[in-house]
Amino acid sequence: MKDIKPYIDQHKDRFINELVELLKIPSISADAAYKNDVLKTADAVKTALEKAGCDNVEICETPGYPIVYGEKIIDKNLPTVLVYGHYDVQPADPIELWDSPPFEPVIKKTDKHPDGAIFARGACDDKGQMYMHVKAMEFMTETNQLPCNVKFMIEGEEEVGSESLSWYVKRNQDKLANDVILISDTGMISNTQPSITTGLRGLSYVEVEVTGPNRDLHSGLYGGAVANPINILTKMIASLHDENNHITIPGFYDKVEELSLDERAEMAKAPFSLDAYKSALDIDEVYGEDGYTTNERNSIRPTLDVNGIWGGYTGEGAKTVIASKAYAKISMRLVPNQDWVEITELFTKHFESIAPKAVTIKVTPHHGGQGYVTPTDNIGYKAANKAYTETFGVQAIPQRSGGSIPIVALFEDELKSKTILMGFGLDSDAIHSPNEHYGIFNYLKGIETIPLFYKYFAEMTM
Ligand code: BES
Ligand code: MN
Ligand code: MN
Repeated sequence: MKDIKPYIDQHKDRFINELVELLKIPSISADAAYKNDVLKTADAVKTALEKAGCDNVEICETPGYPIVYGEKIIDKNLPTVLVYGHYDVQPADPIELWDSPPFEPVIKKTDKHPDGAIFARGACDDKGQMYMHVKAMEFMTETNQLPCNVKFMIEGEEEVGSESLSWYVKRNQDKLANDVILISDTGMISNTQPSITTGLRGLSYVEVEVTGPNRDLHSGLYGGAVANPINILTKMIASLHDENNHITIPGFYDKVEELSLDERAEMAKAPFSLDAYKSALDIDEVYGEDGYTTNERNSIRPTLDVNGIWGGYTGEGAKTVIASKAYAKISMRLVPNQDWVEITELFTKHFESIAPKAVTIKVTPHHGGQGYVTPTDNIGYKAANKAYTETFGVQAIPQRSGGSIPIVALFEDELKSKTILMGFGLDSDAIHSPNEHYGIFNYLKGIETIPLFYKYFAEMTM
């Protein structure tokens, strides 16, 4: 394969400008007000795939947002890589905490990105990372050296649970048949130490509602004599962890796989500075489950977190009131073997059981998904590692991530293939946060590394 570096040098301004244009469209899947923008982004991705040399590019309708599909089948005897990514983004709020508007991309230098980074919602998650694959494809088709068949499948509902993609995958197994799935939607350790994500956590996301009296009450006339749903809800939530920060839901840990001491020792070899971690977050101390390190707590251990809590009076000044209702949104990150449907049921049963008779409880499941782990002794992993080793000059480190991409487990069930997670983001890139950004270095390095994955995957398969 010809060296891609001259091609990148020649075209990098255009690569950056094209991404900037894509980032200007606010494709927020969670908010129906942005429906037209989400659809417009799908069209933009379709055009980009066509320009990159894909055939049969189409907007595939689903019950929700469409899937953009495109392919280049050059030889039935060659292996097929299925590239997945998402063109939707998270909402931008709290908007006032952005230093520049979320959909008006700007390039600025940061400590971690001395070559500059593009600041915009979706820059890293996932438009920037998805678009690296489109540009890598452009290089391989323009220079006539595509080593594999390629199928692209880019969805628009990842940030809201990928329901339509599940629907689509279940109906299109033959069309999507592949030898390996390639995704860039995760992170790596640093710009000098690449890593390959070998695990993702599962997720169960629920909303709870606690109802006390049938209307808001004067907190003097009734206070002390009826249940205050906010007091009750906070007490119930507090009881979900014990003094060691273990989760108290009966059966919650039953299927959790304990790693061997050897595996944990292997994990601990990955470069990590607790001081740098704390100072990046402005915290004096970390906090979590007893008996586990920070990197274990956020990857191989399940968690339960309140993501939002509301009820009662939160306006200016004081209002003396006992609210009729209190609410919380709760997520549980799960590890492989924990089944999200089962965990959701365990949560619901437990939460109802700990409520005093003075209130009624409603638990509404939102979405969820299974976790994922992949061994490192497969061709996909080896090809990826070889590609990184060539472009970074050091081997990649396998690393289990705390984040979730629920569709990956579904791919394994429905399409029977393994996913290789070649993420190029950094933890400091602020995905889902104000001032999300993606390093120019990371973007171009991704474009440089991806074609080598194809090359080595083809070589190792044939
Ligand atoms: N790309 C992220 C997941 C991710 C980021 C995994 C970094 C590993 C490292 C993805 O877009 C995401 O945000 N997933 C959601 C789950 C989804 C069901 C809303 C998540 O992890 O919260
Ligand atoms: Mn993502
Ligand atoms: Mn995301």
